[in-house]
Amino acid sequence: MNRHRRQMRTMLVIGNVGQHHGAWREPDSGIEDADSLRFHLEVARRAEAAMIDAVFIADHLSMLGREAYAPAQHLEPLTLLSALSAGTESIGLVGSMSTTFSEPFNLARQFASLDHLSGGRAGWNVVTSAFGEENFGTDPLPAHDVRYARAAEFVEVAKALWHSWAPDALVLDKQTGTFAAAQKVQPINFSGEYFTVKGPLNIPRPPQSYPVFVQAGTSTDGINFAARHCEVVFSAQQGMAAAKEYYDRIKSGAVAAGRDPDSIKVLLGVSPILAATTEAAHERRRYLARLLNPQFARQLVGFQLGGVDLSEYGMDETLPVSILPGPTAVNRRKGRFDLYRRLIEEGRTLQDLVEIEATAAGLQVLVGDPESTARQMVEYFEAEAADGFMLICPSHRVDGPLLFDEVLPILRDWGYLPTAYRGTTLREHLELPFPDGR
Ligand SMILES: Cc1cc2nc3c(=O)[nH]c(=O)nc-3n(C[C@H](O)[C@H](O)[C@H](O)COP(=O)(O)O)c2cc1C
Repeated sequence: MNRHRRQMRTMLVIGNVGQHHGAWREPDSGIEDADSLRFHLEVARRAEAAMIDAVFIADHLSMLGREAYAPAQHLEPLTLLSALSAGTESIGLVGSMSTTFSEPFNLARQFASLDHLSGGRAGWNVVTSAFGEENFGTDPLPAHDVRYARAAEFVEVAKALWHSWAPDALVLDKQTGTFAAAQKVQPINFSGEYFTVKGPLNIPRPPQSYPVFVQAGTSTDGINFAARHCEVVFSAQQGMAAAKEYYDRIKSGAVAAGRDPDSIKVLLGVSPILAATTEAAHERRRYLARLLNPQFARQLVGFQLGGVDLSEYGMDETLPVSILPGPTAVNRRKGRFDLYRRLIEEGRTLQDLVEIEATAAGLQVLVGDPESTARQMVEYFEAEAADGFMLICPSHRVDGPLLFDEVLPILRDWGYLPTAYRGTTLREHLELPFPDGR
């Protein structure tokens, strides 16, 4: 057994029966049970037994045309995470919440509550939301740069609210009847471009001071935001060269913002398609692809390309670059648009694009047997293209067992994964500093 000083950080993306848009159709997917607490607890407890640092819940505030074709279950993240906190002991609980379609006071209360209830296991995936305007009376969607400007102010207000109670504000003196030291609970009196908030928060300082900040933007605005504010970055890159370039941009951005590069962990999103042999894993990939509804798959890719109609193109065709809107016309997910534009320029077929989008929402798919998959993960980690991984199962029930019973034990055996949780809070698991200097 080999012991390595630097170890991988890991999160498991949960929600629905898995990430692949066709996987719900497999006989054992569990789709009938997918809204239940039982299903989510089964997945979270398996991750906890494997000492995964956190479960991660993505969220979108819109159906995106899924009604007939793909499961649209998006249980509200904070509600789900609160339920999971009662059925788990150690694993971190990370949820996506929008800075465009929520208010800092509400959000600060929700995450303060989750952090208290879970004993310091909360994490917030800060999302600026690329869809959902039709549900909030804000049609059209605010511009990309405006969404990021609002996000920056939002984070400032939320942090001030979490810090509106000093760590030692609670006195709890039953003799004198003093609950808290009044001078240690202060209003924030914030007045900015987007928000006016008096404060203080009506919840004492959370155990971690505030939730671990996670983010996943890939545009220049997104990378700058992450480098300034975030502690975990969800990297959505295809291949070693792109993953390494992104990793280096995040770390140098953090240094430029006056931060220790180690205080920001870059987790590469990977979706392993596994089987006992690599050939069988490729067969599974082809099988999952056949479960996709081609009309829906085209629609999904067309949407990510900024609203292009792909209905006339055959799956084996390459797409002409001329169908793409100019980059400045893209107001939703610029990072995802750039990814698909690159793939189209490389001459990849519509089928390739569909598989990348529908398998893993644009993330890296690793096809192989358990050992070769573990080896690929080590390559990214050793090349410092990742500090660890956001793991995304095509199907939790079908692919989860091979991931948890074979791939992760191999990595643990090689010394890349811890054999116990590092502490009781998510910050300790990830070896991140506490904002109050602890
Ligand atoms: C891997 C990954 C995961 C994401 N998860 C979510 C999510 O759960 N909810 C959401 O609204 N946006 C999510 N996003 C979108 C980003 O938060 C961001 O809003 C979007 O990528 C647009 O920013 P960009 O143009 O900087 O990439 C995700 C993006 C990536 C790359």
